Amino acid sequence: MQITSAIALFVAGVTYITVATASNITYNVVSLQPNNQTIAVIVDDQVYPLASVSKKSQLLHTGDAPAAASGYKYAVIDKANPSNIIDQESFTRAPVTEDKTLNEYYGRFWNTMNLTQLPTIMDPLPIIDRIESKLHIDGEIPTIHITGNQSAIDNMHKQQYADIDVEGLSMTYISPHDVQSFDDVTLAVAGFSTRSFPKLSYKLKLSKHGEDLYHYRRFKLRSMGVDISYMREELAYAIAESIGLPTGRYSYVRVFLNDQPLGLFGFLDNFKNPWPRNLFNGGKKKGFDQGALYKASPNKNVNPSTLPNAIGNTTANSSQPDWNNVKPNSTIQSSTSDLTYLGDNITEYTQYYSVSEDPSSGSANFTRIMELCKFISEQSNKTSDNAAIDLWNEKIDVTSFLRGIAFEVVTSQSDAYLANGNNYMLYDDLENERLVYSNQDFDISMGTAFMSAEVMHGGNYTRFPGFLERPLTSRLLAVPEFKREIHDLIYNFTRDLVNPDVLNPRIDDLYTFLEQDVAWDKSLPRVGNTSLFDAIGSGFTSDNIPFMFGINGTLPDSVVSNFSLSLKNWLELRSTNLMNFFNETSNQNN
Ligand SMILES: *[C@@H]1O[C@H](CO)[C@@H](O)[C@H](O)[C@H]1NC(C)=O
Ligand SMILES: *[C@@H]1O[C@H](CO)[C@@H](O)[C@H](O)[C@H]1NC(C)=O
Ligand SMILES: *[C@@H]1O[C@H](CO)[C@@H](O)[C@H](O)[C@H]1NC(C)=O
Ligand SMILES: *[C@@H]1O[C@H](CO)[C@@H](O)[C@H](O)[C@H]1NC(C)=O
Ligand SMILES: *[C@@H]1O[C@H](CO)[C@@H](O)[C@H](O)[C@H]1NC(C)=O
Ligand SMILES: *[C@@H]1O[C@H](CO)[C@@H](O)[C@H](O)[C@H]1NC(C)=O
Ligand SMILES: *[C@@H]1O[C@H](CO)[C@@H](O)[C@H](O)[C@H]1NC(C)=O
Ligand SMILES: *[C@@H]1O[C@H](CO)[C@@H](O)[C@H](O)[C@H]1NC(C)=O
Ligand SMILES: *[C@@H]1O[C@H](CO)[C@@H](O)[C@H](O)[C@H]1NC(C)=O
Ligand SMILES: *[C@@H]1O[C@H](CO)[C@@H](O)[C@H](O)[C@H]1NC(C)=O
Ligand SMILES: *[C@@H]1O[C@H](CO)[C@@H](O)[C@H](O)[C@H]1NC(C)=O
Ligand SMILES: *[C@@H]1O[C@H](CO)[C@@H](O)[C@H](O)[C@H]1NC(C)=O
Repeated sequence: MQITSAIALFVAGVTYITVATASNITYNVVSLQPNNQTIAVIVDDQVYPLASVSKKSQLLHTGDAPAAASGYKYAVIDKANPSNIIDQESFTRAPVTEDKTLNEYYGRFWNTMNLTQLPTIMDPLPIIDRIESKLHIDGEIPTIHITGNQSAIDNMHKQQYADIDVEGLSMTYISPHDVQSFDDVTLAVAGFSTRSFPKLSYKLKLSKHGEDLYHYRRFKLRSMGVDISYMREELAYAIAESIGLPTGRYSYVRVFLNDQPLGLFGFLDNFKNPWPRNLFNGGKKKGFDQGALYKASPNKNVNPSTLPNAIGNTTANSSQPDWNNVKPNSTIQSSTSDLTYLGDNITEYTQYYSVSEDPSSGSANFTRIMELCKFISEQSNKTSDNAAIDLWNEKIDVTSFLRGIAFEVVTSQSDAYLANGNNYMLYDDLENERLVYSNQDFDISMGTAFMSAEVMHGGNYTRFPGFLERPLTSRLLAVPEFKREIHDLIYNFTRDLVNPDVLNPRIDDLYTFLEQDVAWDKSLPRVGNTSLFDAIGSGFTSDNIPFMFGINGTLPDSVVSNFSLSLKNWLELRSTNLMNFFNETSNQNN
């Protein structure tokens, strides 16, 4: 399109200088329409049907029409009778000065938005050398259209607890500034307990043999199915970035599967190749001795009959808990994926850790995990001196663990090392021959909790579930220097990030940014099998709770809200409780 009009202009420039063709521009807009309808642009009250849909995706409508003098808007028209306007945008778009519009989205009044950024408070960990990539552009929501064998997709949805890959799909990625298409794409349902929610999460994989998308090939589509605020995970990743943790990045996408809109999803680079070299070696494969990437997770198949327990019976309550009467650590989950030493038999470790990626040579052999667990078990849990610091640094990337642990505390992570002994990554840094800690998957955090609100959000952070008990933290804390550093990190993160003055401006911007898409998302039929949820009773999803309630309201009772505080309520509590604790303890020290 762009090339054609440039040539036309060039020819026109040579021969008919005064012809007003220069004022025609190309309009581009994304919208899913049934076969009998199409899109037009209304320019200064004149209707111009957009002549074509993209060969790559029927969602992208394109056509030429005059540039607007005062403004333009898109409309849905009847294909058979183009003068019949079925719907039109409720707002007017400002005239564009270029020869084409961005790839706009029908019914959204903005294409890109400037959102308040969080401050960067720490340099990335020394091991990080992240590739420059346009994968996550803050303030944009691209559209992903996946097309292909519908019966295979239906089959995957019918068996949402099974690990079924649907292969051979096509995908078109449409962002305001770019359109890219891919063949041989693989889609699968992702997640563990979230598989019993009506809105599912997915994994998406581009072919190894084709093009990548801004240097990445594996993605997670996060449903946000338990998050009424739609932004806990986004904010947690933004905080992780601000403190230089080795984890993924997160943005939003709209997702369509054939002619079905699936809704608004979190878009995350998955922790699979080429992720390690993108994060640790600037994307370069050459000369990179990539170590194994492990995930702490029990190596069990999902058993659907246990799932409602994972989301039911939680004790969090949206009314104010009694902060003076907190029972320490009553609810920590026992886990054997928490770096407990299981003896020298490597096979034991394969039950509790899984391989996300093999090293660039050989295969992941779990030795490093076994050695780490052994080392930890040999350290004293009684307060010692700082003599062990060098040894610790030799064995593990201590900084990655200290920052990661402090991050879990301040963002109230319910499903990570401390609280759950699970759901974190370990990267084998071959150069330094030690493991690096990486946090991931933040959907159960920042006010959504599997455990009691009191322990998850209380100020005395040593009572955070698992803090004193887990093998790693109980030993790290015995080294005074590490204990002080964790304290300082938690204090700094609370002061500089988990602070309403810092986060609220971004929350408010995200609210405006997401409002229309959340309304759209809530209006869509879900494709997951909801029988497990239906068994618990009605009112089970966040879909019938207004978006604003997730931000600053008091949540009505439902399965989802029973373990959720609204985001701003959580932030206020987390921040106040921690700061009160720091003030009290520093007074005691004086
Ligand atoms: C400009 O766009 C209008 C509407 O699509 C079309 O009728 C007209 O031919 C175009 N003019 C030129 C010079 O391309
Ligand atoms: C087009 O078809 C849909 C059903 O697919 C129907 O709801 C709609 O009214 C039709 N539109 C027109 C303009 O006939
Ligand atoms: C965002 O901010 C930049 C720099 O301040 C500005 O140039 C740009 O026009 C802004 N974009 C929008 C959509 O407001
Ligand atoms: C589509 O998927 C179904 C179910 O997996 C399979 O039986 C069928 O052969 C597939 N069709 C094509 C054209 O690949
Ligand atoms: C919740 O806990 C109660 C008491 O412990 C138990 O009777 C009930 O079956 C549990 N409900 C679910 C959904 O697990
Ligand atoms: C939450 O607390 C209120 C007031 O104490 C109580 O009435 C309600 O039953 C509690 N809800 C749950 C799920 O515990
Ligand atoms: C190692 O552990 C595995 C799994 O528990 C067991 O089958 C195997 O016999 C053990 N090997 C030795 C040498 O003990
Ligand atoms: C196991 O992997 C480590 C790297 O983590 C490597 O140094 C070691 O040689 C491997 N051992 C065997 C037996 O392959
Ligand atoms: C400390 O270590 C000893 C011996 O390893 C163990 O018996 C004890 O339970 C540990 N205490 C704590 C609080 O973890
Ligand atoms: C914080 O909790 C720990 C562990 O329960 C306890 O030993 C300590 O006294 C508490 N600190 C304060 C200031 O209450
Ligand atoms: C905490 O922030 C202060 C600056 O206010 C800085 O000097 C200190 O090094 C930080 N502590 C840690 C552990 O990052
Ligand atoms: C939530 O925020 C909105 C918009 O700022 C405000 O109108 C409303 O009063 C707030 N509600 C509560 C309960 O704070």
